[in-house]
Amino acid sequence: MEGLIELNQCRVCKNKELNKFLSLGSMPLANSFIKKERIASSEAYFPLDVCFCSVCGMVQLAQVVDPQIMYKDYNYTTGTSEPMKAHFNGLATQIVKKFNLPTGSLIADIGSNDGTLLQQFKDMNMRVLGIEPASNVAPLARAKGIDTVEEFFSEGPARKIRSGWGQPMVITATNVFAHVNNLDDFIIGIFNLLDDRGIFVVEVPYMVEMLKKVEFDTIYHEHLSYFALRPLVALFKRFHMQIIDVERLEVHGGSIRIYVSKGEKKTEAAVDSLIRSESQSGFDRIDTYGKFAQRVNRIRDGLVTLLKSLKIQGKSIVGYGAPAKGNTLLNYCKIGTETLDYIADTTDFKQGCFSPGSHIPVISFDGFYANPPDYALLLAWNYADAILNKEWSYRQSGGKFIVPIPEPKII
Ligand code: TMP
Ligand code: ZN
Repeated sequence: MEGLIELNQCRVCKNKELNKFLSLGSMPLANSFIKKERIASSEAYFPLDVCFCSVCGMVQLAQVVDPQIMYKDYNYTTGTSEPMKAHFNGLATQIVKKFNLPTGSLIADIGSNDGTLLQQFKDMNMRVLGIEPASNVAPLARAKGIDTVEEFFSEGPARKIRSGWGQPMVITATNVFAHVNNLDDFIIGIFNLLDDRGIFVVEVPYMVEMLKKVEFDTIYHEHLSYFALRPLVALFKRFHMQIIDVERLEVHGGSIRIYVSKGEKKTEAAVDSLIRSESQSGFDRIDTYGKFAQRVNRIRDGLVTLLKSLKIQGKSIVGYGAPAKGNTLLNYCKIGTETLDYIADTTDFKQGCFSPGSHIPVISFDGFYANPPDYALLLAWNYADAILNKEWSYRQSGGKFIVPIPEPKII
């Protein structure tokens, strides 16, 4: 299939026998919202299957879509989401404090998007450099005065950056690591670029949380890898790097932040303790993943039955928030305009577009407030607390939310 490569070995340990445990079917790219004038054109569909490596414990997609197709026009800007802005403020403060960073230290952010994280470091008087391949968002960072190199990060660009800007004391990569196909090449680039005393800080959604809360909709083509800590430790070890600390985070349904150094350093007890808890909970065994697949099927069946019965009762239902993961949910459950009148979303460029595959119109919240629906399917469930608070007046007047995971529930 054009633009698609079948993964023939584990991305971390190179084991060739991968166990496929979940097929979500064929679907369009989760961020490919369709502009009105293109709604009649055909969309590209790609299979979405997930497999487990029983040698190192890595969970990964069975196929890789060509990044040139996936990221050419990347419809995601960090700065559009208030909770993420607050999160990045916390991250920058934490790094500066934890490592006593002197002002003027060079900080590089990979997948720097519109510069939201780097802006925080800049405000703390650090030197900052963004690395961002999407040609439509890199200029947004530059407009804020944030130097941005327009590249997919790898060994080659790392060398170029090192000679142009020097060796950063800190390199950050938040929500980008799971998007990288060739991790070897990426880490070699990090190793060469990073100052010898420097720290590489990675944030990734934590696979253990995804399984526990059945966050299957966070599976989409951009997310090639689903990380537990154990395979990450093995991965960095191959390149003489060491995970010295780990923190659990609430963002994106539950993530981990790891701190990686060059060479041997003292490791915090949190690292071993988390790996132990992973193995005690069965995350190194294939049957755990089979059970997850069954729970995913049950959510689909339960949600479809619930929505059907509400429609039979004549209730109006809309989508709340149009995150990428909403499209996995809608396409896997085959939910379309027969069920949802529209999806309301705060993002300017999504408004006026249609959801990929399901072709549901995305509109602003003006329509939602003018004519409140009986039910709102919470596609942006990662912001549930903030949204349920914000919408108390909708709820007060009888409006209900449907939260799809870990099992469909009406609130
Ligand atoms: P994200 O999970 O990738 O940040 O995407 C969240 C989406 O939900 C994004 O398109 C913005 C939208 N959204 C709302 O429409 N209303 C809200 O209150 C929040 C927090 C997000
Ligand atoms: Zn492996």
